[in-house]
Amino acid sequence: PETGCLSIIVLGASGDLAKKKTFPALFNLYRQGFLQSNEVHIFGYARTKISDDDLRGRIRGYLSQGKETDEVSEFLQLIKYVSGSYDSGEGFTLLDKAISEHEISKNSTEGSSRRLFYFALPPSVYPSVCRMIKSYCMNKSDLGGWTRIVVEKPFGKDLASSEQLSSQIGELFDEPQIYRIDHYLGKELVQNLLVLRFANRLFLPLWNRDNIDNIQIVFREDFGTEGRGGYFDEYGIIRDIIQNHLLQILCLVAMEKPVSQKPEHIRDEKVKVLQSMLPIKDEEVVLGQYEGYKDDPTVPNNSNTPTFATMVLRIHNERWEGVPFIMKAGKALNSRKAEIRVQFKDVPGDIFRCQKQGRNEFVIRLQPSEAMYMKLTVKQPGLEMSTVQSELDLSYRQRYQGVVIPEAYERLILDTIRGDQQHFVRRDELKAAWEIFTPLLHRIDNGEVKPIPYKPGSRGPAEADELLQNAGYVQTHGY
Ligand code: BG6
Repeated sequence: PETGCLSIIVLGASGDLAKKKTFPALFNLYRQGFLQSNEVHIFGYARTKISDDDLRGRIRGYLSQGKETDEVSEFLQLIKYVSGSYDSGEGFTLLDKAISEHEISKNSTEGSSRRLFYFALPPSVYPSVCRMIKSYCMNKSDLGGWTRIVVEKPFGKDLASSEQLSSQIGELFDEPQIYRIDHYLGKELVQNLLVLRFANRLFLPLWNRDNIDNIQIVFREDFGTEGRGGYFDEYGIIRDIIQNHLLQILCLVAMEKPVSQKPEHIRDEKVKVLQSMLPIKDEEVVLGQYEGYKDDPTVPNNSNTPTFATMVLRIHNERWEGVPFIMKAGKALNSRKAEIRVQFKDVPGDIFRCQKQGRNEFVIRLQPSEAMYMKLTVKQPGLEMSTVQSELDLSYRQRYQGVVIPEAYERLILDTIRGDQQHFVRRDELKAAWEIFTPLLHRIDNGEVKPIPYKPGSRGPAEADELLQNAGYVQTHGY
C-alpha cells in the first residue's frame, strides 16, 4: 500500500450525507487502523461560517452511537474546517493552504501526498467545484501521490444532462481519478455475487435461459420520502433506486465471466450487459405513488413522480434471451427489504406432481439480515412418500457470528484510498444506464405515463403483482 501524507477533504461537510454517512465511515476506518493519525488529516469544507469545534460538535453525535470514547475524541482532533463558497477561488485557496500546511508538517519531504476530495454536495455544484479543485487544490508534490474525487448520484436527470456533466468533469479529471459511488456496490452480498457465480461449479451450468425462468431484483422501504420530498420529487424512484442500485445488481447477476478479477475486466462485462438491453415496453411497466405523498409541502400538488415502480428488463443475448428481469422498487411499502430472487423453471416430466408447492428458487437477501437460501423440494419426513418445499439456508448472522459486516460507505471509501475502481461506476457504464431509462423517464416527465395511487404500508398497486405473474413469476410459499 502507498504511504505518505493523506488528506481527505469532505466538501459539503455540514450537510446530511457527510454527517450521517461520510464522517461515520471515516471514523470506522480510523478505529480499525486504516487511517493512521501520523499520516491522515481530514478537512471539512462548506459555506457555513463555523469553527473547527463547531463542526466536530455536529459530527460527534453520529460517531460510535453517540458515545464519547477516547477514539472519538482522537478522531475529531484530526478534523479541521475551512469555510468558503463552491465557486470562488478565495475559499479554495484557503483550503489548499490548509492542506499544504498539513503536508509540510507531516512528511512531504519523505513521501508522496495524496488528496481525496469527497463530494457530499448537490450535483449542480460539481462542475464549479471540479474547476476550483483543478485550479487551486491539486497535489503538487514532486514525490508522487495523487488527487482523486469521489462523486455520488444523481449524475444528471437523463442521458443528455448526464453526458453534459460527464464531459464537464471529464475535461478536468481523468477517468482513473474519478470515483462514482453507488453505495449498493459496497454491500456485502452484492460484493459476494461474483464469487458466488464464478467460484461455484454448481451455478455455472445452471445460470442461463435453459434453467432460469425469471429473475427479480427488489427494493422495498417501509417509510416514505420524509424530509426529502423536494429532492425526491425531482427524481422519482426510477432515478433514485432502479437506474443505479438495482441496475448495478442486475449487471453482476447477468454478466459473463470476466477475463480476470481486474476492475477493468469486470466493468467491461457489466457494460456489455447494459448495451444488450432491449427498450422497455410501456405495457411492462407499472408505476405507483403512495397516498399522502403530495401532502409534503415541498412536493407540488400535481406531482406525477412515481414512488413505486415495477418493470421488466430484457437482455438480448445468448444467455438471457426470453428471461424477464423484473425490477421492483418502492417507498412506503409494507416492509424494508432488498433481495434478488432467481426462479428456476419447472421440472420436466415431474413424477411427484410437486409443482404446485413451488419451484426451485435461489434468494439472496442483501438486507436486513444478510442471507442466501435455496428453495428445494424434499421428501416430507415420515412414513408417507410425499413432498414438501424446504430451504437450504445460509443466514449470515448465524453462520458468521461475531463477524462485523462493514458499512457500504466504509468499504468504498477505503477502495478510493487504495485506488481500486472495481466497485465504482465507469463513465461508459453510466451512459449505457441512462440510455436504457431515458425514453421512459421522458414519458413520465411529460405526464404520458401516470403512477397508480397505493396505500402506504401496502404491497404497492395490485397491477404490479399482475405484471409479475404475466412475466412468469410463480408465487412461492413465504413470499
Ligand atoms: C439512496 C436513496 O441512494 O439509497 C434513498 O437515495 C434510499 O432514497 C437509500 O433510501 C437506501 O439505501 P439503503 O442502504 O438504506 O438501502
